[in-house]
Amino acid sequence: MSPEPNLNLSDDQIRDYRENGYLTIESFTTVAELEWMREIYDRLFSERAGRERGDEFDLAGPDIDGEVQRLPQILSPSNHAPKLKETLAFANADAIAKQILGECGSCAGDHAILKPARYGSETPWHQDEAYWDPSLDYDSFSVWIPLDGATIESGCLHFVPGSHLGEVCEHRPIGGDPCVHGLEAVEPTVTGAIPCPLAPGSATIHHNRTLHYAGPNHTDQHRRAYILMCGSQATPRATPRSFPWKEIQKTERARRAQSAQQKESKNEN
Ligand code: NI
Repeated sequence: MSPEPNLNLSDDQIRDYRENGYLTIESFTTVAELEWMREIYDRLFSERAGRERGDEFDLAGPDIDGEVQRLPQILSPSNHAPKLKETLAFANADAIAKQILGECGSCAGDHAILKPARYGSETPWHQDEAYWDPSLDYDSFSVWIPLDGATIESGCLHFVPGSHLGEVCEHRPIGGDPCVHGLEAVEPTVTGAIPCPLAPGSATIHHNRTLHYAGPNHTDQHRRAYILMCGSQATPRATPRSFPWKEIQKTERARRAQSAQQKESKNEN
């Protein structure tokens, strides 16, 4: 059974989010829940849950089997551990989606990014929308929850206030390598960027167009981040656009996802 949400954003907080494209929320979940989530999180990453279907991969490298992953990511960890949907964090994400977006807002999914101790690489400046389908319009935000707290040294997020009000800028695969899943903005304007260190139990939210970055992890502790994705239904765009950086990508992750899908559809026939 899901807990009742206990988070109510003030009008000032909602105004801040709309103006700046991000917001820090001091009390998003409990320390006890974080402890429970860390166990699940560590299990999923040590099992490399969903690797064969492209759910687990290296966000910042070529993701070749047997090579060290610089920035492991798992898409939809709640598919592998459904109890993650029954957390206070999930209930609060759903509640603030409704507060910000109206009744059509909801918490629709999750993912997890692990920045390993001492060598976890940076997450370059990017806008999340650059990863998505260019034929749709979005009004969404991510809730970024560090399971251990996050510092500048361990790779907390940095945001450019107001950057969500512009268009999606030009991106490319990290380092210009089409084998890499992760994207980076090409010559982003990052003046006035704000680092957002977080204590355990707190979170930041950021809009789908907010430029953001996380540094490498220089500490002796993993930086474990759990991310909930909130939004209203995406709608077809009136003006077409293209994301050419997606068209040149050819990743091992996508290959595994496609071959798993083909296997599944064969089994259904
Ligand atoms: Ni992002």
